[in-house]
Amino acid sequence: MLKPLITGNWKMNTTIAEGVGLVMRLRELVRGVEDVEVAIAPPFTSIHHLRFLIADSPIKLAGQNLSTEKNGAYTGEVSGEMLRDVGCDYVIIGHSERRQHFAESDETVNKKIFAALRAGLKPIVCVGETIEEREGGKTLAVVKRQIKTGLKGLGPGMVKDLVAAYEPVWAIGTGKNATAEQVEEVHNALRELLYEKFGTASAKDLRIIYGGSVKPENIDSFMAQPNIDGALVGGASLKAEDFARIVKFKKTSRGKHS
Ligand code: 13P
Repeated sequence: MLKPLITGNWKMNTTIAEGVGLVMRLRELVRGVEDVEVAIAPPFTSIHHLRFLIADSPIKLAGQNLSTEKNGAYTGEVSGEMLRDVGCDYVIIGHSERRQHFAESDETVNKKIFAALRAGLKPIVCVGETIEEREGGKTLAVVKRQIKTGLKGLGPGMVKDLVAAYEPVWAIGTGKNATAEQVEEVHNALRELLYEKFGTASAKDLRIIYGGSVKPENIDSFMAQPNIDGALVGGASLKAEDFARIVKFKKTSRGKHS
């Protein structure tokens, strides 16, 4: 089984100096962590500076987005190959903020997953429902559609490095997290779908992580669920102490990561 993955999504925050300060503190706090994979997704402008600071630490780098293309006349875009070149292992794809503000569709997400795999990056594919969809009883249908279309055309041999991130839109940046039971229900449904699509052997190690107001106070309850394999953390990842506490979540016997 793969280790749980705790990723910090810094979004459009931090200057280089701020990022350096944050990582210097974080790397002390997570020194020696081996049973959890830790990744941070800083803004593109800081990645090159930070890669030297995380050497000899458990921290890995992730991009927050990537182009569908490899190179060429695409002003303002950054390719997966460039992210690999600057030291990234992961890339976040289809975050709800990209779907909402930059009109990314499930089809774009699909192209970006192929682009990430082509470049040797591990895609962290985000799905999640809006509050209207949840209240309308459409949560499972929405996330299943996002996964089905997003992962269209992928073969069983291509999904071992894929991470699915369930991020209900109403829980992002609101301080109002989903309950561990609500998350477990969705993760369980996604797990079944992934087994159906790729077969148990190929999909068994695939991690499904949760994002949406994850904090030091609630991480233990999420990680105690059998189908929650980590977290995608926004606001709390900008505070080294909070993020380190999330990385060092308390293991319990119910969670499979004890
Ligand atoms: P918050 O943790 O700030 O709610 O953000 C979650 C998120 O969007 C991570 O990608």
